[in-house]
Amino acid sequence: MERTLSIVKPDAVAAGATGDILSRFEKAGLTIVALKKMRLTEAQAQGFYAVHKERPFFHDLVKFMTEGPIVVSVLEGEGAIAKNRDLMGPTDSTKAEPGTIRGDHGTDIERNACHGSDAPETARVEIAYFFNAMEIQAPVEALPA
Ligand code: RTP
Ligand code: MG
Repeated sequence: MERTLSIVKPDAVAAGATGDILSRFEKAGLTIVALKKMRLTEAQAQGFYAVHKERPFFHDLVKFMTEGPIVVSVLEGEGAIAKNRDLMGPTDSTKAEPGTIRGDHGTDIERNACHGSDAPETARVEIAYFFNAMEIQAPVEALPA
């Protein structure tokens, strides 16, 4: 079992694509174990994308990620990280196949509808950036009857 962080980015939330995107995760066998809608502050967006702070696109990326609400979730399942990235398609929406989230809902390399963690260590850090332990569903077998 693996967990990954997903973000429905402001472009896709504004377009009313949240439901479609979340349903793709469920249809692919991923379980949504945490979910919230929020609007990032500039500092929160800068912190989330801190690895990209020296990149030329950083300023635009932070502006994009703060332009409106996002929907953040934790997805759980076998190979959840790779499965989510397969569903998303490549970073550049213009190169993403129809049938992928970015192919269907993205516009370009920046406005690409969604985020997904890229490795187990980044997933762990990103999940903790958005959710505390009490906000994430416990394993079903641990719930009281
Ligand atoms: P993400 O982190 O959002 O899931 O996307 P990713 O791994 O596919 O792409 P990454 O290289 O981590 O880039 C993070 C986000 O920055 C924006 N970007 N803009 N203008 C550009 O050249 C450019 N390159 C990347 C995208 O929104 C990308 O998802
Ligand atoms: Mg990335």
